[in-house]
This record gives sequence, C-alpha cells and structure tokens, in this order.
Amino acid sequence: MRDDDNLTAERPTFVTHLECAATGETYPADQVHNLSRAGKPLLVRYDLDGVRRALSKDALARRPPDLWRYRELLPVRRTQDIVSLGEAVTPLVRLPKLAQQLGGGELIVKDEGRLPTGSFKARGLVMAVSMAKALGIKHMAMPTNGNAGAALAAYASRCGIKTTIFCPEDTPEVNVSEIALQGAAVYRVNGLIDDCGKIVAEGKAKVGWFDTSTLKEPYRIEGKKTMGLELAEQLGWDVPDVILYPTGGGTGLIGMWKAFAELEAIGFIGKKRPRMVAVQASGCAPMVRAYEQGVEHAERWEDAHTIAAGIRVPQAVGDFLILRAVRESGGFAIAVDDDAISAGLDEVAREEGFLMCPEGAVTYAAYKAALADGRIRRDERAMLFNCATGLKYPLPPQRRTLDRHQPIDFARL
Ligand SMILES: Cc1ncc(COP(=O)(O)O)c(C=O)c1O
Repeated sequence: MRDDDNLTAERPTFVTHLECAATGETYPADQVHNLSRAGKPLLVRYDLDGVRRALSKDALARRPPDLWRYRELLPVRRTQDIVSLGEAVTPLVRLPKLAQQLGGGELIVKDEGRLPTGSFKARGLVMAVSMAKALGIKHMAMPTNGNAGAALAAYASRCGIKTTIFCPEDTPEVNVSEIALQGAAVYRVNGLIDDCGKIVAEGKAKVGWFDTSTLKEPYRIEGKKTMGLELAEQLGWDVPDVILYPTGGGTGLIGMWKAFAELEAIGFIGKKRPRMVAVQASGCAPMVRAYEQGVEHAERWEDAHTIAAGIRVPQAVGDFLILRAVRESGGFAIAVDDDAISAGLDEVAREEGFLMCPEGAVTYAAYKAALADGRIRRDERAMLFNCATGLKYPLPPQRRTLDRHQPIDFARL
C-alpha cells in the first residue's frame, strides 16, 4: 500500500443527487449550488445500496489512514480534483485521570487539532474546495470566525482559486495572519460573523463570488461527516453513548448525525446512536434557548460574546437541523460560561497534559456540568471534540525567571 493510495486510486462514487433539508426537493449533482429554493441547506444523497455492495470493512481497513479512505461516501468524483494537505485520521485521546476524579465513565477527546491548518475546519474545506475545483469555481468568499477562513485560504491557494475572506474585528490575530499568509485577501469587519456573511452575499450578487458560508455550500458538511465515520471505525464500528460538540454553525454535529445514518444504511453499524449534545457559551447560546423553548428555529442572539470565538455564531442557517439531531438522538443543549471554559482549559492541561482550544474546553466544562446534574450518567462513554490545537490561541504569559549567576536553591524550585 502506498501512503498516497487514497489520493491516486480511482474509486467508484455514488452521489445520486442533492436534497433540500427542509422540503426534500431534489437537485442535480455535479452542478454549482448554494441554498435550495426554500433558502435552506442542501444535503448530498448517495446510492447507499451501491456503497454497501462496493465497500467492505476489510477493504477499508487496508487503506491509508486519512479522510479520503471514505471515498465512496464522499462527493468528489475524480481523483484529480482532490486537493489534499494530508488530512490525517485524528486520534482518540483518553482522559482517565479526570474521568476518575469526576467519577464519570470513559472520557475521550477526538483531537482535531492534528489536521492541516490546526483545526477540524480542514475537513469541511478540503471537500468544498475539491468540489469547487471540480465544478470550475474561480473565486470563493467566506465569513469566518478564523479557523474556517484559514482552511479555505490554504486549500484554495493550493489549487489556484482566489479567496476573499471577512472576519469579525476581534478575531484572534493568528487566524487573520495565517489566512493572509496562505494567500487570501482578508478583511477585519466591525461586526459579527453574520454581518460578515451579508458582505459575502452582496459580493456574490454584485461580482459573482461563490458563497462558501457554513451550510450555504453543500459539501463542507460532507467533509465534517468524516468525523462520525472515523470515530465509529476507531471504536470498532461502535459509537459512544454521548457526543459533546461545540456548536457554532453546527456543521459537524449535523454531519456526524448524517454519517451515522449512512453507516447504518450500508450495514457498518446497528441502530444505536450517540446522544448528541450541542454545547454553547452562555454569552451566545441561541441553540440552547431554542432547545429549551421547544421551538424548531432559533432566534438571533443579540450582543453575542464569549472567549470561545469559534462558537460565537448568533444565528445559524442550519438551526433546525442541529435541533432535530439533538432531539432525535435524545440529547440536549447546554451552555457554560467563560469562567467555566477557562477553568476547564486549565484543568485538562494541568491534569492530563492536553492543551485544548477554548471551544474544546467548552465541551469539557459542559461534560462536568452535565455529569453533576445527572444529564450524563456515570456509566456513559462520552466523547468531547477538541476542534483546534490549543497552540493557535493566545496563552497567558509565564513570568518565573532564574539568574544562573546566583546560587540556586534547588529545594525551593
Ligand atoms: C475551534 C472551533 N470549534 C468549534 C467551531 C464551531 O464549529 P461548527 O460551525 O461546526 O459548529 C468552530 C468554528 O469556527 C471553531 O473554529
């Protein structure tokens, strides 16, 4: 087996059509699409019986460990359109010490910080850009809280597509710099991500940019879906009892839910599903409010603020899909405040040597809260998502110094 087998071997593809997630109206595959005529996300549909016949667990086990091993369940038709930066299978890291201290069940982190550009946004954008290349798109634009823009810039530059990217003015410096270094035109905007989204929509109408906003483009979700495919395979074709997902636009949560349905349809897993928990910050929790009110759509969250910048999304076009997955799975939505997020980040780093990103720490803080109030049981196997490397974020300065010319009191060090 060559290491680049998944990127070079032609494999059969099974996309049949796209479908409006709200109305079920169908759309042809292999054409440029944004939202459906009803203004809702489009989902990619496959001939799953065909996949079932073409793909076995054994054949899969022999492929190199990257995202493209799931080719039969992905939309890219021709190998030549794959734009890859090495989308490695991300590890499951256990937190045994904290699980024991908290008196919980097995606690696992899927560490998405190992992906190109240091975040799970690579999964969605590698797919969106590969499809854009296949469909001849020349100029992509995006509103972003940082990580998605970085991934878009990287993949698009790699295959010669122009990118224009807008982020809220207080987006972490590292994100704005990496976006610019990776070849995009990037602008800070005095507003939030949905304000940036309006600029992209206007540019689409006026100069024909392709709108790559979360869920306004059908293929990012297919890339994010691979988190669900991967974790099921890593657990020996089983799923955890609970998944805690830091929810902004919610692509990953919706994508994983889709992945489990497809895996069942091709006979790789049974009926068991994880309870899907949408985790938000209490300074921006539109999904939690909508979940608690029992409504299908979430109202915009005003004055959104949180240290977990990636999930500062006041309004999500896929709100009804997030809420549907949470409810169908028997999960729930929960918010934690910034103090709990910071404390969680410190605790996991100190106790387990695992530096999470703030959005990852949101899931740990939520796990603690839900274990304490009984919403997660002590015998449940829980999976947290650390969606980006903690090293991308500003870290508190450490000021201890030592004068090597003075006698050192080793007993006090
Ligand atoms: C680190 C991190 N975590 C979580 C999210 C939220 O992801 P999603 O849009 O799939 O809800 C983002 C999005 O920007 C992010 O950058």
